[in-house]
Amino acid sequence: MKQYKDISLKPYNTFGIDHKAHLLIETSFEDEVIEAISTYPSLKVLGGGSNILLTKDIEIPLLRMTCKGVTIEQENEDYILIKAQAGENWSEFVDTCVAQGYGGVENLSLIYGSVGAAPVQNIGAYGVEVKDVFHSCEAFDRQTKEKVTFYKADCLFGYRDSIFKQSKGRYVILSVTFQLTKKNHSFKTDYGNIQKILSENYWEETPEHIATIIKHIRRSKLPDPNELGNSGSFFKNPIVSRDCFLSLQKRYPHLPHYWVSNTQEKIPAAFLIESCDLKGLRMGKVGVHTQQPLVLVNYGGALGNDILSLAHYIQEQVEKHFQISLEMEVNVW
Ligand code: EPU
Repeated sequence: MKQYKDISLKPYNTFGIDHKAHLLIETSFEDEVIEAISTYPSLKVLGGGSNILLTKDIEIPLLRMTCKGVTIEQENEDYILIKAQAGENWSEFVDTCVAQGYGGVENLSLIYGSVGAAPVQNIGAYGVEVKDVFHSCEAFDRQTKEKVTFYKADCLFGYRDSIFKQSKGRYVILSVTFQLTKKNHSFKTDYGNIQKILSENYWEETPEHIATIIKHIRRSKLPDPNELGNSGSFFKNPIVSRDCFLSLQKRYPHLPHYWVSNTQEKIPAAFLIESCDLKGLRMGKVGVHTQQPLVLVNYGGALGNDILSLAHYIQEQVEKHFQISLEMEVNVW
């Protein structure tokens, strides 16, 4: 177990905000995690730092899981159960699976963050969510002080939501097991122009080809946090009633929408923000990304509160123009 006092969190959050942690603990083994939790019962878990906005120095101890390891738990001709420790980097884990030809996670390529954080907000992209490949996970329950196993049905997965998010830190995820396909993969290629790129290149549908396309799409639209601080989508796409959607559709006949239920539709927050003329808006050291307005960026040296003020301004404008409230996807600390 390693402990750092008064350490800058700048390298530990993809916004690159320079606030300090009073105490940062790094644990590489399960017993160290459990020991850290019993020594510091109030600690907070820091994942890959790709979904947090720091607005102040953090007084309560932070735990960073550095547990590594990917193991095959079970396999037959068709499927594999593959377990990754919480501290594994998500994107590297996806690359490992894709390189072995395992199917299921290719659409989730190049998402920043850790394996342990992936189920918390049920990360998703290009028609696939972690819940689609999730088999089970092991977690430490801080309330009962016991190790527990969660299977898919226990996790209450929803759009960027899960029991882990709802229970606000009660469960510390130690490892996650995924069920992937070895053959007869069921690829999701209907989002955007994935299908078009496949056929233009005469590419067969394989995990590797699809991952290559996803990486290309992401790199062309989303800023690299190593170059421009950001945390991916800042807001969730709002789910609105059918009546609200129909009246918006009258104003914007080409409004994209995704079916949620017979009474609800999900609409792109990026469309709403762009329609308020906020795409590319710059306010001092922060701004709305020029190519994907759902992404807020730190042009360098910004404070978390600068990002938060911009976020509030966007929420006000969208509310004023559309009477829709945008909910933050990012956790504000
Ligand atoms: N759009 C605009 N203007 C833009 C960009 C997009 O109007 O400048 C509209 C377009 O109509 C487009 C639609 O928004 O068709 C959707 O855009 P995009 O495909 O970029 O996806 P998104 O809904 O904005 C969601 C996820 C992303 C994920 C992409 C791809 C959320 C909050 N975000 O974004 O996830 O990569 O779909 O599947 O659901 C993340 O969560 O951090 C993240 C990046």
